[in-house]
Amino acid sequence: MNQGKLILIKIGGSVIAPKLSGKKAEMRKDILKNIYEDVKKLKEEGYRVGIVFGGGNYAHSAVYDSHIIRTIQNLREEGEFDRLIKQLERRGKTLEQAVNEVNEASTDLLNESIKTAREHGLELKRVIDPEHVHYRPEGKEYAMHHDAIEGFRHAIEHTETIPVGVGMIVSRDPTFYGLKHKICSADNLLEPLAKELEPDMVIYATDVDGIYETNPQVNKSAELIPRGTFEKIEERVKSAEVTRIDATGGMLGKLQAIKKITEAGVPVRVINGTIKGNIYRAAKGEEIGTHVLPAHRPKA
Ligand SMILES: Nc1ncnc2c1ncn2[C@@H]1O[C@H](COP(=O)(O)OP(=O)(O)O)[C@@H](O)[C@H]1O
Ligand SMILES: [Mg+2]
Repeated sequence: MNQGKLILIKIGGSVIAPKLSGKKAEMRKDILKNIYEDVKKLKEEGYRVGIVFGGGNYAHSAVYDSHIIRTIQNLREEGEFDRLIKQLERRGKTLEQAVNEVNEASTDLLNESIKTAREHGLELKRVIDPEHVHYRPEGKEYAMHHDAIEGFRHAIEHTETIPVGVGMIVSRDPTFYGLKHKICSADNLLEPLAKELEPDMVIYATDVDGIYETNPQVNKSAELIPRGTFEKIEERVKSAEVTRIDATGGMLGKLQAIKKITEAGVPVRVINGTIKGNIYRAAKGEEIGTHVLPAHRPKA
């Protein structure tokens, strides 16, 4: 059994499928290839790796296309849900169909990523499907089915295959004003995975250098926060919203996920995944990007 350090990596949609217009973004295969080179190097050095992919513009634009974003994320009252269903009806769609379209778009991105990995000598296998995850509104948490957790664990411990998942729409339990769905971004997927698998590090690869005090895409003089506990970092962040089409909250959504992961005792790095070698460097413990320290039981 391989006992090297366990690293869980989230590859942001912003890194590999960033285009803003059009139904489907082009895959940035050049960047993906650099990322896979890092993963290969880590595997060769005995590291154990699991990956989740953000649905990126594949999924975000599908979510927007079917107008289900507002309702799924921000439903406030029953009437709003009924209005959405009517809206979809006018477009000749059921909610179920709209949800499946989004999940198919995410699956497309994942399948392309898997194919690209194979071309570069890495074997990836999807082990988390929408049926494996459900959202529990009372605890504001995503619960992952034992089979998916164990599938992830088994691939890591006993095979050369890297287990992967992708952001998707999952079920909500119990329903909320009749709504049965919830978006589970890849940011969120790492919450139950980190809790159950206790990795040595979680890496969020995104399209900016780390967590800043304000949005660096808007404010050119925004200051990068290099290191701190989640509480200290949160105190310094003044804004974390994204300006582009996004279904999962940008840096704000990431911060909420990071809070849960560091609370589970796992250190988190937020780094720029578009820069060659950054994932490798972060995994090796180099202080690049933002290092969010675990709340307790530091593993490193
Ligand atoms: N305080 C902040 N620090 C860093 N990035 C921020 C902040 N506020 C907003 N952002 C935005 O968050 C984006 C990253 O989130 P997102 O677009 O969801 O990427 P990903 O695909 O990696 O999930 C950055 O491109 C940036 O524009
Ligand atoms: Mg995002």
